[in-house]
Amino acid sequence: MNVQTHTVNSLLAAINDIGRDNTRGGYSRPVYSDSEITLREWFMAEAQARSLEVSTDANGIIWAWWDTPGSPKDEASRRGALVTGSHLDSVPGGGAFDGPLGVASALAAFDVLAARESDGSLQRNRALALTVFPEEEGSRFGVACLGSRLLTGAIDPSKALNLRDADGNTFADVASSNGLDPARMGRDEAALASIGDFIELHVEQGRGLNTEEHTDAAGRGPAVAIGSSILGHGRWRLSFSGQGNHAGTTLMVDRADPMVAAAQLVVKVREFARAQADARATVGRLEPVPGGTNVIASRVDLWLDVRHPDDAVTAMLVEKIHGQAQKIAAFEGCSVALTEESLSGTVNFDPALTRALEKSVHRLIPNAPLLPTGAGHDAGVLAAEVPSGMIYVRNPSGISHSPEEYVEHDDAAAGVAALADVLEDLL
Ligand code: GLV
Ligand code: MN
Ligand code: MN
Ligand code: MN
Repeated sequence: MNVQTHTVNSLLAAINDIGRDNTRGGYSRPVYSDSEITLREWFMAEAQARSLEVSTDANGIIWAWWDTPGSPKDEASRRGALVTGSHLDSVPGGGAFDGPLGVASALAAFDVLAARESDGSLQRNRALALTVFPEEEGSRFGVACLGSRLLTGAIDPSKALNLRDADGNTFADVASSNGLDPARMGRDEAALASIGDFIELHVEQGRGLNTEEHTDAAGRGPAVAIGSSILGHGRWRLSFSGQGNHAGTTLMVDRADPMVAAAQLVVKVREFARAQADARATVGRLEPVPGGTNVIASRVDLWLDVRHPDDAVTAMLVEKIHGQAQKIAAFEGCSVALTEESLSGTVNFDPALTRALEKSVHRLIPNAPLLPTGAGHDAGVLAAEVPSGMIYVRNPSGISHSPEEYVEHDDAAAGVAALADVLEDLL
């Protein structure tokens, strides 16, 4: 095998110009857009260059297999494999690391393991697969972690296939034009049986590693953390309907303006979430219909993201927001409808796997802490089916889902070293 060893930073440099968003800044790489497809092709080429066997499954998840020496490349030999990976799609105007860091680190960690195998220091007892999941962000079709939800059956395939993007394309059509067969999508027992343990490395998306509790005298936090839990979270659409009309001829008293209703609700969402310990609630997307400067909107759709460690509190908050939306709508002469688009309960990662991750990571980075996160991940969806765990790499800005998301070169390299040790110990 002719393995050329790449550092994670040079792998990321190679995709630096793909999917840049000159309007929003950062990157916009929606699933199955030209840029995300280019990234998928980049990953497949990198995996093939490492002699890994690459395939795309019925749900659009890419697998790159490093089979155990001497065993056939078949389903039986791959059962219970060690699997690591992340995603390549992004939010609109996102950073360079959310997703790609985990994919590039998986390739770079593979290089470390391949070198250890060539020098005789690595013994492998099971296969390793590197994976790329589609539509982790839900930026195009609205449901986050769509690939892993399809794989596990957490979403009904008929519901998934009917999801539409902003241009009205169904997921079924987009999947078909990308070579997938909609009739074959959904829970995949064979693929699930192939995952013995799933590890996802990811950029840390908050200030978790930069808090006083974890930083040294120079104010620097450890390079990596081990994931403990993911906040329960969901997405809801609220549609306010009113009377579309002329901005110049309609007296202020004669209006039923859904934008005015939506604006009041946005303020209430913040008020309710602030009053609830540990809650996060966001309106990050709002669409007036038809959306003209001199037009009173006839409808305003807004999307609500609510997160809390206690799933009952999430439900209570959404109920409270819905009740408030109804009151505001009635006062403004409008109506409102609420639709749940996705809901995921709080996830606590597998305790035994988490302890194994800590043990491996602590050899290199003794002060790597256990860290909860408010961000959703495919590892969280997979955790319902297979032992899953996460490694977070320090983000000095603490900012994510933004062009300012950042990882330092040394920390990225430390993340790969930690991931390689974790994988070696688990193989
Ligand atoms: C994904 O990054 C999410 O937490 O929304
Ligand atoms: Mn991510
Ligand atoms: Mn993200
Ligand atoms: Mn071993």
